[in-house]
Amino acid sequence: MVGRSLDRSPNWPAGCVGSIAHTARLCIVVAARGTDYRSVGVDIEPAEPLERELFQTIAVDDELRQFPAGSRAIDARRLFVAKEAAYKCLHPVTGVFLDFHDVFVTFDGAHFVAAVRHPEIQEFEVDGVLHEHDGHFIALAALPVVSATPRSGRS
Ligand SMILES: CC(C)(COP(=O)(O)OP(=O)(O)OC[C@H]1O[C@@H](n2cnc3c(N)ncnc32)[C@H](O)[C@@H]1OP(=O)(O)O)[C@@H](O)C(=O)NCCC(=O)NCCS
Repeated sequence: MVGRSLDRSPNWPAGCVGSIAHTARLCIVVAARGTDYRSVGVDIEPAEPLERELFQTIAVDDELRQFPAGSRAIDARRLFVAKEAAYKCLHPVTGVFLDFHDVFVTFDGAHFVAAVRHPEIQEFEVDGVLHEHDGHFIALAALPVVSATPRSGRS
């Protein structure tokens, strides 16, 4: 049985980590062994262009500039999904609320790196992948046990 923690994150059975996301039509659940992953985060959103008035809320100019000008609205949605997945991965570990501008996402094809800059957690990087499936973007971010300690600013 998966419960719910005070921060609203799922409370997995001992030895497991995982993440849940849903839209009106689809739900996705990811689970992993705690010996392999310190945390995972998943998000799913309709693969639709992000409203232009939200660009500055979700991303900084340097993030948007990694994409061609003609596809920025759909790529801004990719940034949004990646950041939400990174947040769901990091929040259960750090307990720190992150704003969209605290996380800088860089894409390399389907792979992304979410770099966190926040006074309470110093530097923290999370790797992830983003795929399109059935009209949705699905982003998965993960902190493997082996790389979590040296790359985090807080244990
Ligand atoms: C947690 C949050 C990302 C959920 O996103 P959402 O698009 O509303 O909803 P989703 O369907 O994707 O995910 C909901 C699930 O996330 C999980 N979740 C909720 N809070 C969580 C947290 N703090 N940490 C990890 N997972 C969490 C729960 O399993 C929840 O499922 P439930 O509603 O059935 O209990 C969002 O509501 C939130 O709290 N955002 C604030 C922080 C933020 O977005 N910062 C900018 C990104 S860096």
